[in-house]
Amino acid sequence: MYDKKYHNSDLKNFTFLVTGGAGFIGSHIVEYLLNHGAGNVRVLDNFATGFKKNLESFSTNKSFEFLEGDIRDLNTCQQACKDINIVFHQAALGSVPRSINDPVTTNAVNIDGFVNMLVASRDQKAKKFIYAASSSTYGDSKKLPKVEGEIGMPLSPYAVTKFVNELYARVFALNYGIKTIGLRYFNVFGPRQDPNGAYAAVIPLFINSLVNNKTVKIDGDGEQTRDFTFVENAVQANIRAAFAGNFNDLNEVYNVAVGERTSINQMFEIIKELSGSDVKPEYRQARAGDVRDSLADISKIKNHLGYNPTVNLKNGLKFTYEWFKNNREFINS
Ligand SMILES: NC(=O)c1ccc[n+]([C@@H]2O[C@H](COP(=O)([O-])OP(=O)(O)OC[C@H]3O[C@@H](n4cnc5c(N)ncnc54)[C@H](O)[C@@H]3O)[C@@H](O)[C@H]2O)c1
Repeated sequence: MYDKKYHNSDLKNFTFLVTGGAGFIGSHIVEYLLNHGAGNVRVLDNFATGFKKNLESFSTNKSFEFLEGDIRDLNTCQQACKDINIVFHQAALGSVPRSINDPVTTNAVNIDGFVNMLVASRDQKAKKFIYAASSSTYGDSKKLPKVEGEIGMPLSPYAVTKFVNELYARVFALNYGIKTIGLRYFNVFGPRQDPNGAYAAVIPLFINSLVNNKTVKIDGDGEQTRDFTFVENAVQANIRAAFAGNFNDLNEVYNVAVGERTSINQMFEIIKELSGSDVKPEYRQARAGDVRDSLADISKIKNHLGYNPTVNLKNGLKFTYEWFKNNREFINS
């Protein structure tokens, strides 16, 4: 992965901080930066949902630095942002159901931690603050495809936190001149996404079940739709955002997706075919707080940042399925 290049500047001249770099998307941003010769890549993570094994392949790289710590602590954030040019803020507690079960912790990490990271980026004079926003911010809006300026009301505590992040980023830009870009990810998937536990995302969960010959459980009727986005596309968006130079491109939020709508049933069929299994899914009650349909309009990010998704759902699923099959240590059977 990451032989394609999404930047023009020489990364050797930059220092980067990836919060949540031991997690799924963060570790892919780290991989891209190190593969392309970044001067310094620092990760801040507390392993709440991330893993040491996600960082193992970088640990001998001289440009790589790891700081174990919690974004809920402002001093830690200040230390992490010291001498950093570009911050990729990925650390957060993901998962809608987790936030419904424990709104207090989700709020503390996703909002207090976010504000700490903004303050530290401002104080340490980072040039850019690129952060993980979420398609959950579209909430109960029925409009499809989703266009950045038209959102509904949030449906979960998680969605509230991600919307509040956008409000804080805007307010910090207005009051302190900090340069931010928010990336509203739409169902990102790929290697290293955690397939285990109660809060696993749907694609690694299905792969985990099929690799282990277990029944796949589908929430609701499976006809709900998503704009599934292979992680390389999300990395591309981050890199393009990091080097966006025009005033009009900054302090904005952008959809990050492929612009295609696939039902859970269709996605299941693709993975089932890849696995050669003939297992039938088991349908259970729909989950609270989930949106029914999701599809992104990606013209804004294409026009402003020159983003263009390079991996479609089928190819992304094939790559991801093979990767999990060959890296069984990432799956608990
Ligand atoms: N994966 C998706 O489809 C998706 C969709 C929309 C938004 N997002 C957002 O993208 C970001 C990355 O998500 P991901 O899928 O890689 O999740 P992940 O859980 O794999 O990664 C999050 C990382 O943040 C770390 N972290 C959590 N709390 C922390 C704390 N208090 N201090 C320091 N580190 C902490 C975790 O240990 C983990 O390594 C998150 O902000 C998430 O909300 C993801």
